[in-house]
Amino acid sequence: MRTRLFLPTVWLALASLTHAAETVWLDALDLSQMTQGWGTPQTNRSIREQPLAIGGRKFERGVGTHAISTARMELDGGSERFLAFVGVDDNANGPASIVFKAIADGRILWQSGVMKPGDPAKAVDLDLRSVKTLLLQVGDAGDGVSYDHANWAEARFIVSGAKPRIVGVPVEPAIILTPKPGPAPLINGPTIYGCRPGNPFLYRIPTQGQRPMIFSASGLPRGLKLDSATGIITGSIAERGEYRLTLRAKNQHGRSSRPFKIVCGDTLSLTPSMGWNHWYAHYDRITDAMMREAADIMVSSGMADVGYQYVSIDDCWMNAARHQDPMRVGPLRDERGNIVPNKYFPDMKAMTAYIHAKGLKAGIYTSPGPRTCAGFAGSYQHEAQDAKQFAEWGFDLLKHDWCSYGQIARDDKSPDMFQKPYRLMGDLLKQQQRDILLNLCQYGMGNVWEWGAEVGAQSWRTSGDLGFELNNIFNVALKNAEHRAWSRPGSWNDPDYIQIGHIGNARVGGLPAPCPLTPTEQYSFMSLWCLMAAPLFYSGDLTQLDEFTLNVLCNPEVIEVNQDPLGQCARVIELDEATLIMVKDLADGAKAVGLCNRGEMETTVTARWADLGIKGKPRVRDLWRQKDLGRFAGEYRAIVPRHGVVLVKVK
Ligand code: GAL
Repeated sequence: MRTRLFLPTVWLALASLTHAAETVWLDALDLSQMTQGWGTPQTNRSIREQPLAIGGRKFERGVGTHAISTARMELDGGSERFLAFVGVDDNANGPASIVFKAIADGRILWQSGVMKPGDPAKAVDLDLRSVKTLLLQVGDAGDGVSYDHANWAEARFIVSGAKPRIVGVPVEPAIILTPKPGPAPLINGPTIYGCRPGNPFLYRIPTQGQRPMIFSASGLPRGLKLDSATGIITGSIAERGEYRLTLRAKNQHGRSSRPFKIVCGDTLSLTPSMGWNHWYAHYDRITDAMMREAADIMVSSGMADVGYQYVSIDDCWMNAARHQDPMRVGPLRDERGNIVPNKYFPDMKAMTAYIHAKGLKAGIYTSPGPRTCAGFAGSYQHEAQDAKQFAEWGFDLLKHDWCSYGQIARDDKSPDMFQKPYRLMGDLLKQQQRDILLNLCQYGMGNVWEWGAEVGAQSWRTSGDLGFELNNIFNVALKNAEHRAWSRPGSWNDPDYIQIGHIGNARVGGLPAPCPLTPTEQYSFMSLWCLMAAPLFYSGDLTQLDEFTLNVLCNPEVIEVNQDPLGQCARVIELDEATLIMVKDLADGAKAVGLCNRGEMETTVTARWADLGIKGKPRVRDLWRQKDLGRFAGEYRAIVPRHGVVLVKVK
């Protein structure tokens, strides 16, 4: 009797053990659903397509990836163990640093600590019984993703039931959160604006609501006039000083007014500049016709009615010595040394006039080196001539890159070698009889935030091209926010352009297609850039704007956080691995607060008033929904989706 009962039990146990012995290799799964910061996941070789090797040890099998990467695995209760060896690939050839993590149902199950090139492989052995969703992640250890070549070597699951599957990012519906603007006028835009005495003045009062509309202003300084039908202010102010205006607009549905202070002096861009830049949409395909179309759409889409103003051309408007498109090949300069636009730009002056006639401003691009990043003519040794030319053409902003200037700076041992080319251009631009903003694009070298304003720039990129790090916008934002001490009126840290809606693939300069960000991530992009007081330049395809993208770009209450006259970049309060609070003081005494979740799972985030320096029982307003949520004592908590930001104003 006893034996008869015992035997089948042993047999069953043995059978399940034999079953449990099935090994499923990570490299045998469908890796196409993995996300990573650079390249594509490799089977049984490193991201450089070399044999996998960690700390001198070779591995036959495994997955070669690149930070930041995630394999989201559905285990369906079938996996018992996960085994692997992890580390930086021996061919990384640079200062990599990575952290490997395994996150089980939203909880960190294991992490490697920081791993560097040459470190011996670390063994991973995880108990997965009862785990439903497992994330295998590679993070950048906080110093950016460069050289972060990461290997999951001999990675395998011991499976007793359903096989593990790599699945994509959960699909989210693109929900429009913001109510549509009504037909009555609503004046938006900054409440403070800087200009220089004697220079042409141009400002289109950003106003939502049905046209026709009648604009007026009280307190308009001498020298300026307002077109009552278009709301465009032009002219020139001779006298330095502060001028307090009230802007007004009315139509058959109602009226709106807004205070506006013009400070005529030395400082431009008293709030972050806003506009559109062609780069991430059109690369080396840009033409005069596309720039004019961009200006048309900036007005017709309503973007100009919430404050977008600059229509900016990036690289590739000049000639190159070699290019696949013969229309962009030609003499770099004429016999007098003047830079020559390529055949797609027959008349720069007419193009800026077209943009100006809409009340908008025009931006241009050059490099301090002999060539731009895309190999077109740069300004080296023609700086004065080019600055004068840009002003004569009628440009209002210059993006100044770095690119081939590296060759010149290499032999320059002087302590101010980073500043030199920008100080030169900054001084030259000030000499022009135009207000021309200077945006530096040298990726943060030499702590540019410390001296950017002093050399005459109003903004400077703080990192490399965000087009290459789109799965990493929180990291880029947090690095940018580290320089918050240098954020103030006329002085802005620039983490690069807003890339939502339709954008091209930055790696190959591809045609615009839907961006890789989820709807939540697109809202987060805008929320973070507004909290950081970053210049707000959309760099997607304006001809493919849809309702969702416009909704994200054009919420005036969110933009008001960006344009706040205090010019503060939000302070960051890290709560845990995944969640953080960003808090920004506003001029009206309120605070903009972002409850942020960088993690892969939805979670509750709590903003405690004590941490934020808030007393009493303040009112909380949801800025995306433009909705009051009530008064809250002690704290405000919200459920924040994966990679989400809940943006509120607390007063
Ligand atoms: C890069 C710059 C980009 C774009 C590009 C043009 O250096 O960061 O924003 O301007 O050059 O070639």
